[in-house]
Parts: sequence; structure tokens; C-alpha cells
Amino acid sequence: MCSQRLRSLLALLLLSVPGAPVRGAPCSSAVGEPSETSGDEIPEISVSPAAKWEPLTRMLICDVINLRDQQFVEEFHEPKENMSNYKENTLPLPHVGARDCSSSNFSKESCLQRISHGLQVFAVYLQFVESEYARSGKAADIKFRTKILSDHVIHRMKNPQLAQELDSDARELQLRALPAASAWDRKSTVHVLLREFASFLKDAYRAIRHVERQARRRPAANRSA
Ligand SMILES: *[C@@H]1O[C@H](CO)[C@@H](O)[C@H](O)[C@H]1NC(C)=O
Ligand SMILES: *[C@@H]1O[C@H](CO)[C@@H](O)[C@H](O)[C@H]1NC(C)=O
Repeated sequence: MCSQRLRSLLALLLLSVPGAPVRGAPCSSAVGEPSETSGDEIPEISVSPAAKWEPLTRMLICDVINLRDQQFVEEFHEPKENMSNYKENTLPLPHVGARDCSSSNFSKESCLQRISHGLQVFAVYLQFVESEYARSGKAADIKFRTKILSDHVIHRMKNPQLAQELDSDARELQLRALPAASAWDRKSTVHVLLREFASFLKDAYRAIRHVERQARRRPAANRSA
């Protein structure tokens, strides 16, 4: 029943965006919280723009995790459980972090700015994922939802102009810096990008939910100017 709700919410959302691809079953236990109940966390359904980001983000997280797992199994020929053997493999990627997005030191504006920047950076990296791991058409869906989430986050900022867009030089540099010399490098890079993006999204989800709850408590004070 809940996944049906999720589906209809998403359908509503996608209706307003022509050409959006819809594929696969909705994922309902994406976020690292007690997964049995996560389907019930969707707040009372008022289909306002502010309510849509939540199911959207859950689907996004789920898609990224599925793609990460699929890519790992197919490209590394190892069971999913063996992913932990590769955790030492890292790249300098955006993090939501404790500096301004943790509950003990939460600064709405700089946290949202950090998230919107991170989403843009990962959106560029998704091009690499798409070209190196084209087997699944999922990367296109993921890019699409990342863009919607990014727009939502920017919309929540008091100063949306602080969410400056990465120009094409910056994007190019970013892609060129990825380890991609050998086939092994490329598949490892894809794995690390998907793994870290999933983790970024989970943290972002919690942080944005925090912002939304605060805004609901103090409607007038907290809406973006
Ligand atoms: C999975 O990891 C275990 C423990 O590190 C290792 O012994 C095993 O060979 C790995 N499986 C494959 C298929 O490589
Ligand atoms: C707390 O947040 C402020 C504002 O973003 C930041 O300048 C400061 O460094 C943060 N403090 C810690 C301990 O991370």
C-alpha cells in the first residue's frame, strides 16, 4: 500500500516533467534506517512541491545502491558481500559532513549549499558512470532525479545564487582527474563513485528532512526569501 502511494506520488511528479523515464520497481527501504518501517515514514500526503523530494530521494538512493551492487557483481565477478574488501579504495569526493549539517552544529544555509554543490559534482561524475558502465539504463534515471533533487535544494536556499553552477571547464577538469588509465582503474572508479554517492545521498536526505521539519514548525520564518 505504501509503495503504491510512493508510486502515485512519483507518477504525479513525473507527469509534470515530460519525457521522464520510469523503470523498475520502486525501492522502499533505501535509507539506512529501520528498513521495515521506512515505507511508513512518508508524511501525510499533501502533494505539494515540498513533499515530493522525499519519495524522490528514496528512489534515487535505492537506484544508486542497486546500480552499485549490480556493477560490482558484474564487473568484479565477486559477491556483493565482498564489496567491503574495496573500502580502502577512495577518491576525494564531496561529503555532507559534520561541519554544518550535523544536528549538533546545523547551519541551514551552508548545509544546503554544501548539498547542492555535492549534487552538482556527483552529477558530473555520473557521466563517467554512464559511459563506463552503460549496461544498465539506470544511470540516466539517476542523473534525472539528481537534477530534480538539486533544484529542490537550491529552491530551499535563502540565497540560491550561492549555489553557483559548475562551468564546463570545471566539469572537464573534474572528469579528467578521475583514475581511468586501465580497465581496472575505470571499474574501480565507477564502484567508488556509486558507493560514495549513495552515502552522500543518505546523509543529504537526513539533512534536508531536518530543514523541512524546521520549516514546518516555523512556516513563516523559514521559507526561502
Ligand atoms: C570474497 O572475499 C573473500 C574474503 O576476502 C575471498 O576469500 C574470496 O575469494 C572472495 N570471492 C571472490 C569470488 O573473489
Ligand atoms: C559550525 O558551523 C559553522 C557555520 O557553518 C562553522 O563555521 C563552524 O566551523 C562549525 N563548527 C564545527 C565545530 O564544525
